[in-house]
Amino acid sequence: MSLSGKRILLIIGGGIAAYKALDLIRRLRERGASVRVVMTAAAREFVTTLSVGALSADHVFTELFDRHDEHDVGHIRLSREADLLVVAPATADLMAKLANGHANDLASTVLLATDKRVLMAPAMNPKMWSHPATRRNRATLEKDGIAFIGPARGEMAESNEAGEGRMAEPLEIVAAVEAMLDQRPKPLAGKRIIVTSGPTHEPIDPVRYIANRSSGKQGHAIAAALAKLGADVRLVSGPVTIADPAGVTTTHVETAAQMKDAVESLLPADAAVFVAAVADWRTASAAGEKIKKVAGEGPPALQMVENPDILAGVGHHSLRPGLVVGFAAETQDLIGNAEAKLRKKGADFIVANDVSHESGIGPTGVMGGDRNRVRIVSKAGVEEWPEMGKDEVAERLAALIATRLRTVVV
Ligand code: CTP
Repeated sequence: MSLSGKRILLIIGGGIAAYKALDLIRRLRERGASVRVVMTAAAREFVTTLSVGALSADHVFTELFDRHDEHDVGHIRLSREADLLVVAPATADLMAKLANGHANDLASTVLLATDKRVLMAPAMNPKMWSHPATRRNRATLEKDGIAFIGPARGEMAESNEAGEGRMAEPLEIVAAVEAMLDQRPKPLAGKRIIVTSGPTHEPIDPVRYIANRSSGKQGHAIAAALAKLGADVRLVSGPVTIADPAGVTTTHVETAAQMKDAVESLLPADAAVFVAAVADWRTASAAGEKIKKVAGEGPPALQMVENPDILAGVGHHSLRPGLVVGFAAETQDLIGNAEAKLRKKGADFIVANDVSHESGIGPTGVMGGDRNRVRIVSKAGVEEWPEMGKDEVAERLAALIATRLRTVVV
């Protein structure tokens, strides 16, 4: 979503994560938003007003009463002339101040004076985050309608401690901002939708596995698009290098068997979308130790067995979701094969990809690339979509799912 014309008031609190706020400003402006920044005194110990001002291309506001500041627009105007307030990093102190209505500096005064929504991206030491006082403040703020993104788990920059307290990444904060400013109706609110994405890895021995070229881009984009329409999305992802989509609950798995268990444990659901390129076969039993080359014996013969078909399992399940969508990657007889899969797997529609020759594999192809050309195959017939970006395929598919769910009797 473009943030064109949107005005963000960013409040930078004092914490080591303040450096990430610089990237956040850049990312927001890249998407067309204007970013005005308020920095607390503590924030200025970590990053300078010079860098912040250069990136935001605006005056940086720091003082509550600054009679000499020719740019002074006053705290009321500052907080009202914005579409959304973002606090990143939100320190324990800023949270405490707002939870208790303090207004003794520009940041806390602006937060108290605003009539706009507020998003907080907390960042602090894990002990501070889990302290009963901070937990109480967070609960109060949530009750007051303040939205939160993160914190995530991870290593703390300033100590050797690991735990919950690391600020969400700038792109995750941007996604949360987009979701909050998204005025479109939420036709999938209250619907639980399972999505599978990415490849699976089937072990041969402790160091080797069988994989495929799926990047997870299409499945992750679909999960994000469904979440934007308000769905409670449960993504089950095989090993991918891309980030978990914002606003989605993601479970990470390696093998087809793990993916099947994860998906079935998420039933019942209103819909399920199977985008993962699940390995059709796995080794009958993975070797416990690394398989060694033995002179004169040649390569080992791998005994393969078939993996469970996760889509077919759910398509014929007693808890079958009202809407089941599969994908088909074909190199020949695209429609014929997709129609056969529709019946065999118990799907309501199949999104068919042509992975033959030039449209196929690699950075510019369907598998691994950013674009896709699909056909939607259902009992009602075949609908051809023109070639488009994977994000656009995802948005159109999410809209189609929303339309179908309105008419499906669950
Ligand atoms: N799928 C699945 N579990 C499997 C294999 C596939 O859930 N073990 C799902 C995929 O996520 C996709 C659809 O089934 O939605 C089609 O997968 P595809 O690999 O194209 O079909 P196959 O059943 O493997 O058929 P074939 O190998 O004959 O093309």
